[in-house]
Amino acid sequence: MSRLVVISNRVPVPDKKKAAPAGGLAVALRAALSERGGIWLGWSGNSSGDENPGDLSILEDGNITYALTDLTDRDVEEYYHGFANRVLWPICHYRLDLADYGRKEMTGYFRVNRFFAERLVPMLKPDDTIWVHDYHLIPLASELRQMGVKNRIGFFLHIPLPPADVLFAMPVHEEIIRALAHYDLVGFQTDHDLANFVGALEREGIGRSLGNGRLASFERRFRGGHYPIGIETAAFAGFAERAAHNSMVRRARDSMADRPLIIGVDRLDYSKGLTQRIDAYERFILENPRHQGNVTYLQVTPKSRSEVPEYEAMQRTVAEQAGRVNGALGTVDWVPIRYMNRSVARPVLAGLYRLARVGLVTPMRDGMNLVAKEYVAAQDGENPGVLVLSRFAGAAREMSGALLVNPYDIEGTANAIARAIDMPLDERKARWRQMMDHLLEHDVTRWCDDFLRDLTEEEQAGDHPEPV
Ligand code: ADP
Ligand code: F6P
Repeated sequence: MSRLVVISNRVPVPDKKKAAPAGGLAVALRAALSERGGIWLGWSGNSSGDENPGDLSILEDGNITYALTDLTDRDVEEYYHGFANRVLWPICHYRLDLADYGRKEMTGYFRVNRFFAERLVPMLKPDDTIWVHDYHLIPLASELRQMGVKNRIGFFLHIPLPPADVLFAMPVHEEIIRALAHYDLVGFQTDHDLANFVGALEREGIGRSLGNGRLASFERRFRGGHYPIGIETAAFAGFAERAAHNSMVRRARDSMADRPLIIGVDRLDYSKGLTQRIDAYERFILENPRHQGNVTYLQVTPKSRSEVPEYEAMQRTVAEQAGRVNGALGTVDWVPIRYMNRSVARPVLAGLYRLARVGLVTPMRDGMNLVAKEYVAAQDGENPGVLVLSRFAGAAREMSGALLVNPYDIEGTANAIARAIDMPLDERKARWRQMMDHLLEHDVTRWCDDFLRDLTEEEQAGDHPEPV
């Protein structure tokens, strides 16, 4: 087996003093890499100011070697805050209204991708398998190819890929698609995302499907596939079983005194549908007065990307909204919404999920949404909770036992919460079993194996994606 070299913008730098960063990519990749071992190159999360970032920091942790680079202030501003998080993120989450395109940011994005390629090349061996992750690093393969790298290079997009009409609103969409054609394999979360990619290729005649996952675009041949990301199902279920002894989980349980808990766990991001979710919860309480003073909603939401104006504005909006609902509905001995802007350790998170009768996962759009899967994995099979899940999360394609909702439909979501709270035990068990069986079979190891098998298999078939 060749050595695996993973590159992503965000890397969960091992640090015993800090909680791991929230975010699906870091959580899933660490799980996948810790079994297989390899090199993980990415951003340290630090800025070097105006100075050149200097040498890579190398950290060994188990069988993973982390290679971390600082970025300059300008890089962080243009590449990360600017193009990645104010152009690609909103557009891929169908929020054209929030996209703020600028040439300076776009140039910074390509410049930083070149910089990552320059940092990577000296570390590479000829038979390494290279796996690039997420929207920050789409141009990396084309930069590596220009530097003469011939290794197999795969790319996985953790977020949705929208249909052509949305994608093409981005002025540089053609460069982005051209960059993807430099990979050997491009992986998406769902068949919808893959179909959107093929649709985008075909719409302007810049590529086509050759059948069987084979694609041609910009005079290159490569492959596309869908690989729904999973979680460490068995390990997470183990955390949840043992969490009853954790003091934070115990405090939460004691404070509930057997009353039902609804849980939401998300980065503070506009794609997660937090304002609509709070509206739906408020509506549920108003329409089911017997639950006033009974059901509590706990929302655990670490702040995210706070330097980006849309995120900063959202932090105020959600805090004000939670405060307003608590003011309007709360009583001397009951707070309707417990709102926390904090990351918690994974064993604690698992324990909190297990306490909750309802997992409320209602993004307006999401590539996969690992929280939905973690909530299910954490349940007690003898008395499981109910997953209420947005139909616009990639996870909805797999979680057949969830109550699916349209998060734009506040009344519909409120009704689903009521149904979940009152669902009989037999139905809860049957729905949970279906989902848990799926999660045990399709865990993060399987996701990693499936992708890497397809990435390396083609090599054996002698079908290296050369220019056609
Ligand atoms: P995204 O990648 O957009 O953040 P996902 O739901 O796919 O969304 O992944 C989020 C990951 O971050 C999950 O593994 C979840 O457990 C973790 N996470 C989210 N919020 C918290 C939190 N408050 N504390 C700890 N981990 C969190
Ligand atoms: O999983 C999607 C994702 O965008 C990852 O690429 C990213 O690491 C995570 O969400 C959290 O965002 P950030 O790295 O910007 O904190």
